[in-house]
Amino acid sequence: MAKVVGGVGTSHVPAIGAAVDGGRTGDPYWKPVFDGMQAARDWIAEVKPDVCIIVYNDHASCFSLNLTPTFALGVAESFQPHDEGYGPRPVPVVRGAPDLAWHLAEQLILSEFDITIVSEMTVDHGLTVPLSVLFGQPAEWPCRVIPLCVNVIQYPPPTGNRCLNLGKAIRSALESFPEELKVAVLGTGGLSHQLQGERAGLINVEFDNAWLDAFVDRPATVASMSHLEVLREAGSEGLECVMWLVMRGALNEDVDVHHRFYHVPASNTAYGLLVLEDAKNPASPGR
Ligand code: DHB
Ligand code: FE
Repeated sequence: MAKVVGGVGTSHVPAIGAAVDGGRTGDPYWKPVFDGMQAARDWIAEVKPDVCIIVYNDHASCFSLNLTPTFALGVAESFQPHDEGYGPRPVPVVRGAPDLAWHLAEQLILSEFDITIVSEMTVDHGLTVPLSVLFGQPAEWPCRVIPLCVNVIQYPPPTGNRCLNLGKAIRSALESFPEELKVAVLGTGGLSHQLQGERAGLINVEFDNAWLDAFVDRPATVASMSHLEVLREAGSEGLECVMWLVMRGALNEDVDVHHRFYHVPASNTAYGLLVLEDAKNPASPGR
């Protein structure tokens, strides 16, 4: 079976990708952010997942408003980085995991999640920045990737509860895969930020920290928050944090926090990072 070895939540701020690509991670502005990532890099280097399922949003790069899938699963052999207007990031091509991706598509759709199956897609900073956060600048990404693209761009996005339940269904689907594989699930986006309108520049440290606390210990509470509440507190683009709930759902109810880091600001955004594993000594029985 394919086994979930852990979950990572990380913001996907494009300026972080630009700092990596431009060799500026040691600059005084960026050093504290990259120092805060090191424990996550050490963790993934130790765990060595075969596949990362990356839950992210496309920022009108691959998809336009002509086509807005709520959940789009990439089943291709490979995914090219998207040119977002300043040239595609100079990062390796993302190698897919078609066998596992098709298995996920089948199991999820038969469990009544209406996934869009995507055989050809490009991936923007929403997916490539988390890879840079965890792996730096390798000649090739050290694992295969299944992109799971969530609509948080065009109203109405999926509910937190739907995302949490999708994560649970992903875990069940992985468990019925015939091959032995180690899988990490990454939830990306957030934390608080607003890039537009009168509240542009909004960051809400108090909300983010309370949200992270609840995300770890009471995910159902976080999942039941209305979009309006998240939007009010975390800003219009802060709503991206709903995607972390897919990762949380793929883990057991009880988790161990391997690493937690929060830093303000990273560009216009509050940077959040969590590395979670199923609890070694769960207080309540696992699924
Ligand atoms: C920015 C864009 C994002 O997609 C994001 O999640 C955070 C910040 C930006 O343009 O600064
Ligand atoms: Fe984003």
